Amino acid sequence: MSAMNRQSGELLEQIKSVVGETGILTGDAITGRSAGIWSGETLQALALVRPQNTEEVARVMRFCHQAGQVVVPAGGMTGLAGGHQSSRSEIVLSTERMNRIESMDTHTRTMVVQAGVILQNVHERAAEEGLMFALDLGARASCTIGGNIATNAGGVRVLRYGMMREQVLGLEVVLADGSVVSSMFNVLKNNTGYDLRQMFVGSEGTLGIVTRAVLRLHEAPLATETALLAVPTWDKVMELLRYFDAVLPGALAAFEVMWRDHYVLNTGPFSEIEPPLETETPFYILLDVFISDLDHGRAKLEELLTTCLEQGEIADGALATSESERVRFWQIREDFEPEQKKFERIYGYDVSLPLEAMPDYVESVRAELTTAFADAELLAYGHIGDGNLHFTIYPGQACARDAVDEMVYFPLKALHGSVSAEHGIGLEKKAYLGYTRSETEIELMRRTKRMMDPENILNPGKLFDL
Ligand code: LAC
Ligand code: ZN
Repeated sequence: MSAMNRQSGELLEQIKSVVGETGILTGDAITGRSAGIWSGETLQALALVRPQNTEEVARVMRFCHQAGQVVVPAGGMTGLAGGHQSSRSEIVLSTERMNRIESMDTHTRTMVVQAGVILQNVHERAAEEGLMFALDLGARASCTIGGNIATNAGGVRVLRYGMMREQVLGLEVVLADGSVVSSMFNVLKNNTGYDLRQMFVGSEGTLGIVTRAVLRLHEAPLATETALLAVPTWDKVMELLRYFDAVLPGALAAFEVMWRDHYVLNTGPFSEIEPPLETETPFYILLDVFISDLDHGRAKLEELLTTCLEQGEIADGALATSESERVRFWQIREDFEPEQKKFERIYGYDVSLPLEAMPDYVESVRAELTTAFADAELLAYGHIGDGNLHFTIYPGQACARDAVDEMVYFPLKALHGSVSAEHGIGLEKKAYLGYTRSETEIELMRRTKRMMDPENILNPGKLFDL
């Protein structure tokens, strides 16, 4: 046995003494486990460690710190930027056995959870008390709260409630050396110096491992109405965002836009969904409106849509008439199966930029792409109420990730956009961080990382290189 192997063998024994036999998987036990829902690859790791609580995470980290062992934290493995990617020499620390909802306080409207709780379970628990957890996104059935915090997840309600960082009142984190920072505050206001908690939100597992959190809850709406609108111009898309927010104060809960190609593919032969609107326009808006007046809420929305139609603001519109139709409208926006069926490979993108610049940006990226790669295709859609645009790009026969990345990211510098609106940087966008962040900002991030993880054992090489 080489010195290296003996050392890691000892470390794995030490870890086993903390988490028990079932808390650590190696060799065959991890072969075949998925490395994430998007990549289709299998997990690579020296060991998969599955602690059950903060104390166990802390003790594991103390051993790893002593041994200089790299640790990659993992939640639901639904990340889209490679932040959870690991190699065969790294320990993956999964929160899958830390999946307990500890308590809920209906008066302060907070919930205390372990990091491995699945987002959808938080939704369901809150709903039992007429409450709502505001973060919502397509991966809701697999992603975990810890991952949502580590990546500062966004999703479909940001317009109304903000990103994940707005939903976190308290946090418990284990640092690289195994010390525990417990800041489980459960009241809205806490103005006592540096907001240490927020430093970990969006740090992508590079500064600490989130183990518990106090989440903020909101009143659940009595009902949600969903409308799909066919819109003839981008100016009208922008006007309608302001219009609906103004006439439905506090009730506009999602404002998503699909460019025509995305709408057509997701209601075409590769999909089981029939197009709810036949009218051909360049843009389709998907609206969610929270209803607090069951007697008149829907009628008011119908009236507003009729006015929009009469005034030519929209070319066509449909208000979902049942919960199943509402779900179908959303599937048109959130489904990726038609893309996966039609294209042998797709690249996904997540950027933000000012609304005014968006349509020209989309068309110039599309033009550059299809000039470079004859059979390439670009589908655009996103959380446009948040200035957040997604692309699904088929690069044609070419495997040309770097070239396509450059086409998408480079123009954002001049437009003051972001190379990541909500998915984070991970490995995939690290080369482009400088398009959005200044050298001074990146250097401050590096100094923070060096200060908090001097051995560079926590998710090293993610976000930036030291
Ligand atoms: C979505 C993911 C890609 O919005 O962020 O569907
Ligand atoms: Zn998104």
